[in-house]
Amino acid sequence: MRPGRKAAAAGVLFLGATLAQSAYAQTPAGQALAFDRAKGNCLTCHDIEGGNAPGNVGPPLADMKRRFPDRKELAAVIFDETRRNPQTVMPPFGRNLILTKDEIESIVDFLYTR
Ligand code: HEC
Repeated sequence: MRPGRKAAAAGVLFLGATLAQSAYAQTPAGQALAFDRAKGNCLTCHDIEGGNAPGNVGPPLADMKRRFPDRKELAAVIFDETRRNPQTVMPPFGRNLILTKDEIESIVDFLYTR
């Protein structure tokens, strides 16, 4: 293949990948993880703006940036809330490997928009 064609082919591939991604672009990664019933599943217990049929086992997750100015603290709650409250029913998402550290970070990004 001539260099010009190769570049054009790469461009088409790139465009294809971008279009494929944009189908999900309206939903930020952290929101998808938080709302996914097989991943964060946060809505089962928490009311989060934009989520359907939330539960009320835990408190509503709102005003997060003001209430958790230290994002490490917020990430720690998601990683393993049993450290703060040994009696909690909230699953220790990080310790139990339900969510990776990166996934928890992107959920924190999302929660900071709520
Ligand atoms: C099985 C129910 C359950 C699930 C699922 C759950 N939580 Fe919780 N969560 C709780 C409860 C109950 C509390 C109240 C504090 C405690 O129990 O220690 C809580 C507390 C919190 C808090 C502290 C809130 C505050 O105002 O102090 C945050 C933040 C939080 N959860 C985030 C999440 C996120 C993010 C997810 C999804 C990844 C999630 N929770 C999934 C039950 C749940």
